[in-house]
Amino acid sequence: MCFQLAFRVNAVLLLILFARQSNGLIYRFIPEDDEFFEDCDNAPSNALNLHGFVDTSQISFSRNNGIITVSGNTTAIWNIKPGDRIEGKAVMFQYDRGIWRPTQFSVTVRNCCAVIYDKPQYWYKYWTQHITNREEIKDQCFYPGTKMIYEPFEIDVLMQFTGLPLNGRYKIVTTFRAFDKRNVQRDTIICLQTVGEFERLD
Ligand SMILES: *[C@@H]1O[C@H](CO)[C@@H](O)[C@H](O)[C@H]1NC(C)=O
Repeated sequence: MCFQLAFRVNAVLLLILFARQSNGLIYRFIPEDDEFFEDCDNAPSNALNLHGFVDTSQISFSRNNGIITVSGNTTAIWNIKPGDRIEGKAVMFQYDRGIWRPTQFSVTVRNCCAVIYDKPQYWYKYWTQHITNREEIKDQCFYPGTKMIYEPFEIDVLMQFTGLPLNGRYKIVTTFRAFDKRNVQRDTIICLQTVGEFERLD
């Protein structure tokens, strides 16, 4: 029970941990880039960007009144092996007088494949629930060749934060690492960043 609870808490992305607390302020995340994800600043040399993660030639992003609509499909091309454990980490930074400073908001998901279609999670709400063939590919995670087919959907991310109000630009850096059966890390990692602002709703 305790383990389960710990696991569940661990599996919650940063955007999310805080969303479950009461009395927070509600914000809409407004991404700067029309494709949502950018290449990471100062990425390590073994890092691949979105185009190294999935084939993006069949997916389109279009922006209307600030809202990004996504449609099409992606095929995973990251060169890892079926069965690898994929660890995800997201860290939020705030732009402050010319420097990106880490904030207290960060989360690590030790085994992304186990929770990718887990309904209580925010990534399900904002992303994986729109994958129409999810039943078919639910065991294939991000392994090479996995094709995710999307119904057209809008990226409209609402979050609740407690503490000081959020102001200015923020950057969320998401990395994925893969590990083989002996827990040896694969050569390449995926690094994606999203820069944007939080607009307060209430
Ligand atoms: C994938 O997306 C492309 C471009 O939107 C579309 O032409 C194709 O039919 C899609 N394939 C599947 C299997 O949905």
